[in-house]
Amino acid sequence: MSIKIPFFKKKQKEEFQGELENVPRHVAIIMDGNGRWAERKGLPRVAGHKEGVHAVNKVVRAAAKADVEVLTMFAFSTENWKRPKSEIEFLMKLPKEFLHVYLPEIMENNVRINTIGEFEALPEHTKEAIQHAIDETKHNDGMLLNFALNYGGRFEIMRAVKQIVNDIDCAKLSVEALDENLFSDYLYTNGLQDPDLLIRTSGEQRLSNFMLWQSAYTEFWFTDVLWPDFDESVWWQALNEYQHRKRRFGGL
Ligand code: IPE
Ligand code: IPE
Ligand code: MG
Repeated sequence: MSIKIPFFKKKQKEEFQGELENVPRHVAIIMDGNGRWAERKGLPRVAGHKEGVHAVNKVVRAAAKADVEVLTMFAFSTENWKRPKSEIEFLMKLPKEFLHVYLPEIMENNVRINTIGEFEALPEHTKEAIQHAIDETKHNDGMLLNFALNYGGRFEIMRAVKQIVNDIDCAKLSVEALDENLFSDYLYTNGLQDPDLLIRTSGEQRLSNFMLWQSAYTEFWFTDVLWPDFDESVWWQALNEYQHRKRRFGGL
């Protein structure tokens, strides 16, 4: 299957040497290594978070060009509340900064924004900035840019179980009707295809509670690159490698 490449500008297209075949439909990214990036430069950890914002846009642009359908970016986990208050406060301001700079380009690229995770528990100003972007982009029918914010895979599964029990209790659902597909509908990712490719930066090789249910058959790609250094060339490296993977889903 060959795909169209709608957002490629001529020069960028020439830079990409691979073949745009077998492109993952859903790419999930664990953006890691901001703190270490800053520490290596003798800067405070938050400087890495600030720089990481620009890497997000590079990937959004590249993914839209590659005709990826869904891009899920892990931005804040349910465990990240354990960090110092000052770092959390800094992180919670970043969505607004990112959108202030890049929302026009996101609109231009026909990208729709959404979130997964416990949105309600985020600070008001963070929610406002994101809700504005969700509303602004809701009619765009290109790539879905999905931010995992205050997201935890175990919490998501537990939340689904509670809702299911509730729906069974009030006879909205029967135990017999429950299967894997229906269970998936109770997750934040309701209706989305599972990620085909998961990228984690900074050399860590673990899920850290990200998309536990959804990553059952996801291809993993790890790189030592720290998130703020992630750019289009690293993105294409990941895609190139994905294109050569053989996915069997338990079959032959
Ligand atoms: C990823 O970078 C950003 C978040 C988890 C919010 P880190 O802040 O985890 O950076 P390291 O892993 O400490 O280098
Ligand atoms: C995972 O990174 C969460 C995000 C990237 C948002 P962490 O830096 O929090 O993960 P651990 O603590 O190294 O497993
Ligand atoms: Mg980390």
